[in-house]
Formats: sequence, structure tokens, C-alpha cells
Amino acid sequence: SAVDKGGYRHFMAKEIAEQSSVLAAAVKFYLSGREGQTMLENDLDFTNIDRVVMVACGTASLACFTAKYWFEQIAGVPVEIDIASEFRYREPPISDRTLAIFVSQSGETADTLAALRYCAGKAGKIVSVVNVAESSIARESDVVLPILAGPEIGVASTKAFTCQLVVLAAMALQAARQRKVLPAEALSKLEDQLLQMPGLMADVMTCEGQVKAISQQLARFKDAIFLGRGAMYPLALEGALKLKEISYIHAEGYASGELKHGPIALIDDDMPVVVIAPHDEMFDKTVSNMQEVMARGGKIVMLSDAKGLAEAGGETWQQIEVPQIEGPFAPIAYAVPIQLLAYHTAVEKGTDVDQPRNLAKSVTVE
Ligand code: G6P
Repeated sequence: SAVDKGGYRHFMAKEIAEQSSVLAAAVKFYLSGREGQTMLENDLDFTNIDRVVMVACGTASLACFTAKYWFEQIAGVPVEIDIASEFRYREPPISDRTLAIFVSQSGETADTLAALRYCAGKAGKIVSVVNVAESSIARESDVVLPILAGPEIGVASTKAFTCQLVVLAAMALQAARQRKVLPAEALSKLEDQLLQMPGLMADVMTCEGQVKAISQQLARFKDAIFLGRGAMYPLALEGALKLKEISYIHAEGYASGELKHGPIALIDDDMPVVVIAPHDEMFDKTVSNMQEVMARGGKIVMLSDAKGLAEAGGETWQQIEVPQIEGPFAPIAYAVPIQLLAYHTAVEKGTDVDQPRNLAKSVTVE
């Protein structure tokens, strides 16, 4: 076939490992290349809209959820997100001051396409963020932003997710620039942080040995919980989704602060809890939620940087160390250990990693 595993045991492993290089292409195109930059400047006007609506399914919808934090915090644009299967039946009001963004790896997901058609003629502009540029969703959009991930074969989306995040981050920066909500200095700092992401994706792969060892333990459990705060909350949802998709371990993602409103009832010594806790502004709050889990015997897998682990990793069951990553785009790099954890747990369990049961790469029926 046109695409092979390039020496890896599974497409998923190859696609996780190649994120550094595919992200470099996306970052170059949208931040330091002419074509992509011009596309964002000329084709997207964030000054004449009052909100963004983002719609997608599965992992792509979690890219939208992450980007909501960026658009709101960086550019001050209100963002509504929804999963495509709910969106149109709710009959949400859409005005010409709404910019509608549809995110889809395949560009063929039936619900996402139907949501796009619902917005056509109502929204100011229809933008799609796709991997397959000749897809149905791309064809029916006013503006098509390719994520440049290259073919993704593994059913569980990995490199498409992080490339979607890069494109959405570049859009949020463009919105901030046009709406003049940030001083030039702050904007260029954020740009630099995004430009550094491809290099960080390679650095972060060094945690693979640790993750593999932890996965051998994780494979014994029936359930798992993922916790995160801020833009790490959508990543906690993605971590749970990945783990259940390919290892068949029942997993739930929660906002750390929501723990005591339900999931804490599940905590005992049979419950591994993956806590995404970079040493950022949210760190102390996340750690206090983590301690609530530990006090009830929950087994913490703490995912953090050297600083965070030194401060709070001591009594946790397992630790995963990633480099220190500054700024709001950290979830892009933190996606790597989350993907590796699902991957190695599935390998340990001997499931069909690239073709998990009951799942399809592209869902073209409702
Ligand atoms: C399926 C795939 C997921 C994907 C989702 C949305 O469920 O198994 O990996 O995230 O569809 O697909 P799309 O092509 O629209 O991104």
C-alpha cells in the first residue's frame, strides 16, 4: 500500500512518533510560511463576528474543546462547542456574525457534514479544518484549512488531533491579532511558544520508557479516571477516550474540580487516576484534588514536569515526567504521553490497536 508502518509494529505507534515532523510542517505553513498565513489573514475576519461555533465528533470535538480555551483566553472571542450529533437537532440560532468551524480528519463524518449544512446560509462563514482536502466537508466550506498531517491509518486519531490543535491555535492567534486584544509583545511570545511545539513533541517522546512500564500495570485494571483542569480538562477527556477505544478499559475523563461532585465515590485501591498536572497556574488546585484521591486509596499516575513532580509527586503511585512547557499550548505536547499510555496499555492487553473492535476510522452514517 501507499503508506506502510515504517518499521513500527502498528500504524498508531508510527503516527504518534511522527508528530514532531508533521507538526513542524503545519507550524511552518500557518506561522512562518506565506501561503497559510495569507490564507488566515485574507480569508478569516475575526473583527466582524461576535462568536465562533465549533462542531465535530470524537477526538476532533476534543480538539475544538481545547481550542475554546485558547480563543476565549487569547482572543476574547466567545466560543460555543458541540458534538455534531446533537448540534443541529437542538436547532441552535446561527447569525451572520457567527463564524462556524467544522473539524474533521476524514472530512466525511456524516453528522459533522449535516451540522455544516445546517449552518450553510446562516453563518457568516463556514470554515473547515480537515486532513483530507478533497473531502465532502472541505468541498462545502467557504474556507478550507488543511491540517497537513498526512494519511492517518490507525483508527484512534493521534497526529490528526495535534495537527488540528496547531491549526486552531494559529487561528486563535490570528483572531487576537485582528481584534487587537493583546500587546504585540504578548502575541509574539505566544507565536514563539507555538513555533517551539514541534521540537517539544520530540523531547516529550523520551517519556515513552516510563509510560510503557506504567502501562504494564494499568493493563490489569478494569477502570480508570483521567483528571485535568483548564485546557488540560479536554485532554483528560481525550485520554479517557483513547484508553477505552483501544484497550477496552472503561475510562472517564473529568475536570479535576468536578471530582467531588460524583466520581470521588468510585475511588478505591482498584482505581487508577491519571492526573494531568503541569506546573502552571492551576497546579496547586489540581494537586489538592489529587490529594483527595490519594486520601481514599486511589492510585495516582501523575503526569507533570520536573518541578511539579518534585513538589507533589512523592507519594503518588506512578510518575510520568515531561519537559517544562510554557504557555497555553502545552496540551499539544501533553497529548503525547496520553496517547502512549493508551497505546502501550492496548499492546500489553493484546488488543487490535489499529483496528479496535466495533470502531470505524470514518463514520459516514448517522
Ligand atoms: C471516528 C474515529 C475517531 C474520530 C471520529 C471523527 O469515531 O474512530 O478517531 O475522531 O470518527 O472523525 P473525523 O474524521 O470527523 O475527524
